[in-house]
Amino acid sequence: MMSYTLKLESPLIKAIRLGELLGLDNLYLKNEGLNPTGSQKDRVSLYHVNRAAGEGFDTITTGTCGNYGSSLAYFARLKGLKPVIFVPRSYSNRRITEMVSKGAQVILVEGSYEDAVMTSSKTAREYGWYDANPGSKNWEEGLSSFKGIAYEIVNRLGKAPDNVIVPVGNGSTLTGVYLGFRELLEKGITEKLPRIIATTTSHGNPIAVAYKKGLNSVPALKRVRETRFNEPLVSMIAFDGDSALQAIRESGGFVVEVPDYKMVRYSMLAKVSEGVCVLPASASTLEALNYIGECSRGEVTVAVLTGRCI
Ligand SMILES: Cc1ncc(COP(=O)(O)O)c(C=O)c1O
Repeated sequence: MMSYTLKLESPLIKAIRLGELLGLDNLYLKNEGLNPTGSQKDRVSLYHVNRAAGEGFDTITTGTCGNYGSSLAYFARLKGLKPVIFVPRSYSNRRITEMVSKGAQVILVEGSYEDAVMTSSKTAREYGWYDANPGSKNWEEGLSSFKGIAYEIVNRLGKAPDNVIVPVGNGSTLTGVYLGFRELLEKGITEKLPRIIATTTSHGNPIAVAYKKGLNSVPALKRVRETRFNEPLVSMIAFDGDSALQAIRESGGFVVEVPDYKMVRYSMLAKVSEGVCVLPASASTLEALNYIGECSRGEVTVAVLTGRCI
């Protein structure tokens, strides 16, 4: 097999027209949708695939609802690993066809996303596969892969922004982005931490519930309402919820819950004004701009967008 080092870097664009429409002079969009498989999950997939290959595994597995599975399948195949992806039966969508076309074995699981994750982890233990699931042995270390988002933003801007808005499901991306900004501050490369602001669905996300109730740890939810638009953000268990909640609080950020119709509107606005085509779930970050405050016009704000639209 050919040896190579793959490096990911997504564009940061100054959104002049969108900023004008939303009343901001310094709005930037970090478009993770332009990663090879269309989402920020490529960063963490690449970490786990490299690690699995380095440790001599021949098979890698995760439970997923779509973006992560498709991404893991793509990078696994590049490295010559076999991807086995567990997906809840009720989630059958175009991402499954994509996973199969990338060479994944897809196993449909009765139950929720969380059931798919548990089943994948259990099967990994039984068969000696590399476990790339949230909560697995190497998961926490893998979150470091999202630090790259912070480093790339600072490289481009030459300083830390005032606000960074991240769409949140499990809280993994937000946690890693925060760790990146904290590391940059500790190394003396930047002079401050940006406010880390989370957006998520108003139909059920445990991080939003914990934030609203002022809790110190993120509870599991019993009921959520999942739709075709909010699917990446809705969850009963947020696997990196506690660390995400801590990141939001430590940085002086907050959480905004967004209904589907607003996500769809913002994704259309991003497309029409900037030609950026991303999933409505991630365009939820633009709703947070309304909550940043009166004096934010000149502040530097970065909205993380992801999930390529179809
Ligand atoms: C498009 C999109 N936005 C946001 C998220 C949420 O990311 P996280 O689960 O890391 O919080 C995901 C997760 O897959 C996603 O696919």
